Amino acid sequence: MGTLKAKIIGTGSYLPKRVLSNQDLEKIVETTDDWIVTRTGMKERRIAREDEFTSDMGADAARAALDDAGMSAEEIDFILVATMTPDYMCPSTSCLIQKAIGATKAASMDVGAACTGFLYVLATAKAFVETGLAKNVLVIASEKLSSITDYQDRATCVLFGDGASACIVSAAKERKGLELSGITLGCDGGQADILVIPAGGCRQPASNETVENRQHYVKMEGKEVFKHAVRRMESACKECLELAELQEQDISWLIPHQANIRIIDAMAKRFKHLPPDRIFKTVHKYGNTSASSVGIALDELLKQESLQKGERILLTAFGGGLTWGAAVLTSTGDV
Ligand code: UT7
Repeated sequence: MGTLKAKIIGTGSYLPKRVLSNQDLEKIVETTDDWIVTRTGMKERRIAREDEFTSDMGADAARAALDDAGMSAEEIDFILVATMTPDYMCPSTSCLIQKAIGATKAASMDVGAACTGFLYVLATAKAFVETGLAKNVLVIASEKLSSITDYQDRATCVLFGDGASACIVSAAKERKGLELSGITLGCDGGQADILVIPAGGCRQPASNETVENRQHYVKMEGKEVFKHAVRRMESACKECLELAELQEQDISWLIPHQANIRIIDAMAKRFKHLPPDRIFKTVHKYGNTSASSVGIALDELLKQESLQKGERILLTAFGGGLTWGAAVLTSTGDV
């Protein structure tokens, strides 16, 4: 049991077709393309159709990951979904995806860790396959953030976009992939109130008043969140590299959470040996897709580049909770 090593053997992602540009946002709230680009690096983001939900996008990303791994849905024995925009409070979105893709043999559950969700489900998948509790885990992050975004609040509505990402985590010895060489997670619940959706849970169940007060939308103290973001991702990366007994120089790609180009650039400064094109970015075209963000970037990176055996990718994310994490992925060849 102790010799099982978790690796990612397939990835997929899904982005809705509809594009919401900065110019479109200029018509909705008092903002400018220049403000959004300068302060966030975002030019456009994707928005799901009214009849397209978190489970639909998650299922599409899952099908792409299964296809990439050359695997059928029936070979999956566990489905993990990271989301802060589930289809329902109950049942979990993972159950809906299980049905949609026909993964009839899979147990399933959702995990809530806001923008760090992909790393939290990746860590859970690693634990399950390395202890032999599961063989093939389908890891999904999917967000319909447009459903919790207040398009009257210019401080938040310019930031968020919809999308989904997925990967298959397996310990199968004969499969090549990206070995999960180290993962670290963290949380500071003392900062829970700086990024919150106040109503809809048991503290403030839906009422006419909560709807009138727009309490079902995400509220964020952007500046406060910003302050913690770089510090927490930086320390998570350091901790993760130590855990994997690696140095910064051992990393060939960095994928930070795509929340703001200024946060990404600040992270890039900490990895001076990496040329700018080795800091992978999607923030300009998809905005902040919360839990899905690093998974979408990982899928795009793997579709664009062929990694040599031994090359390493460092993923790091940060979000509401507050939560944060980092993971080192090592190519075992043919990725
Ligand atoms: O994924 C979860 C983690 N989330 C994050 O990491 C987000 C972290 N925070 C941020 O990325 C940034 O704080 C924001 C992009 C949200 C905001 O940037 P900022 O440089 O911190 O701006 P600010 O909130 O301090 O606002 C500066 C000014 C304010 O006007 P005054 O008070 O200086 O007159 C805002 O009212 O910009 C104004 N403002 C806008 N102006 C035009 C805020 N939003 C907009 C807007 N268009 N969309």
